[in-house]
Order: sequence, then structure tokens, then C-alpha cells
Amino acid sequence: MDARSVNNYESYAEFYDNWQDSWPESVMTPCVNVLSDIAAGRPALELAVGTGRIALPLSQHGIEVSGVDLSEAMLARLRRKPGAEKLSIVQGDMVDVPFEGTFGLIYCIASFEYLLTQEDQLRFFANVEKRLAIGGSVIIQTIIPNEAFFSNDFRLNRMSDLPSGEHEMASVMLMGVKGDPVTQVLDQRIMVLGEKSQVFRHKIRFVWPNELDLLARSAGLSLHARWNNWQRDAFVSTSRLVISEYRRA
Ligand SMILES: C[S@@+](CC[C@H](N)C(=O)[O-])C[C@H]1O[C@@H](n2cnc3c(N)ncnc32)[C@H](O)[C@@H]1O
Repeated sequence: MDARSVNNYESYAEFYDNWQDSWPESVMTPCVNVLSDIAAGRPALELAVGTGRIALPLSQHGIEVSGVDLSEAMLARLRRKPGAEKLSIVQGDMVDVPFEGTFGLIYCIASFEYLLTQEDQLRFFANVEKRLAIGGSVIIQTIIPNEAFFSNDFRLNRMSDLPSGEHEMASVMLMGVKGDPVTQVLDQRIMVLGEKSQVFRHKIRFVWPNELDLLARSAGLSLHARWNNWQRDAFVSTSRLVISEYRRA
């Protein structure tokens, strides 16, 4: 089954912001500041923009932000938020980078892993390169799973509070994962327990940093910087978050 049908953001959208807003200000502020610094007043493009969690505050920095996402439900949430009218939003596949013109910053956060095949990953980079302005940067945030992700059965690896929004009784979100170190696929179950209990399936494929560099090189991009977090701390072998900046070689 294709990732595009497995990852059901159409129904997950209603929970997404309540959960993802758990990104504290101490992460969100430096993230948006770094993106704004790198954009340096030039237009920016977010690939898999979701509900605009990052694109909206970035546009408040005076950056012209465009975004694409596959899920109409995620985009519908974005469009209802204040400031959305300033963004240029397209529903589509990020692999196609369906935009004209060029961008000084193209970024993809917590989403590159939805590309399950090497063909899609290569097309992604080739199309990104075509839309990158001279002197522009590509920023990609990915994860490196720890050993607890790899088992023959689902392991519960996260439980978080789901602040009540529209769903007064919905209170917890549990995440189970079964990972395959050879195919690099992580099969996830996200369970929302509360008044309206639901189980979502997510299938993602993590990439090793060297693999990401090689994919970027195939499009003529080379690694310019790599951090462990948005405070730009150095990436080390125990880092589980990978933020990579690529520029034309
Ligand atoms: C974890 S969310 C991240 C959203 C946003 N980048 C953020 O950090 O809040 C993943 C998003 O990727 C989108 N997505 C998954 N595969 C996609 C694809 N091939 N093209 C465009 N969007 C995709 C989903 O619809 C969802 O909105």
C-alpha cells in the first residue's frame, strides 16, 4: 500500500494541532528564528506545510511563505487560522514541488519520512533543486530512531496528553511503533483515547544522515550545516533529531 493512502491525515487532522502544539515555545521560537535568518527576506517554501504550525509564524517575520500539502483536511485547518490569507497554499504532492519561480529557502519538517521509496526521494530533491534560488538553502528535519523502535511487535513508545479542544473528553494519545532496521520502515499506530477513540496508521521511512546527503548530492546539493536541534547545537552520534542544511555544491 502506498504511503499516501496509509497515512490518513484526512481524519488525523482534527487532532494534529492539539498534539503538535506540544512543541514548546523553547523549540518553536528558535525554529522560526533560524528559518527566518536563513530566508533573509527571500521567499520561503514549506513542503508538507500541514496546518501551518511553522509557516504562519514564519510569515509573521515578514517572509513571503508558500506551502504544499497532500491533505485537504490539514490545509482546511490552516486556512481557518489568522494570517493564512498571506500564504500561498497548494494542495498536492511535495515530491512534485508544484510551484513556479524560485525560493531562497525550501524546508521540510517532520515529513520527509513520508516518502517511502527511493524514487520519490530522488524526485523530491531533483524538483527542490529546480526551485531553489541562487544562494538558496534547503532545510530538512528528520529523525533517527533509537533501538527501542526496532522490535518484532508493536512497542508503545510515547504517551502524551492531548489537550482538549473540540473533544472535551479526549485526553491521551499513545503511539506504538514496529520498526524494520533493514527496510528502514517504521510502522506506527497512533491511538487517541477519549470520548471519540480512534486508531491511525502511519508508515514512515527514516533516512540515515549519510543517505540524505547522498540523495541531496544526486541533485547537485551538498551539506552546508547539520544540527541536533533548532538552537543549532552540534549534531553528534547520539542525536535523534537531524536538521540538515543543503546548498548548491
Ligand atoms: C507531521 S505533519 C508535519 C506538518 C508540518 N510540517 C509541521 O511540522 O507541523 C506531516 C504532513 O505531511 C503531509 N504529507 C505527507 N506526505 C506528503 C506528500 N507526499 N506531499 C505533501 N504532503 C505530504 C501530511 O498531509 C501532513 O500534513
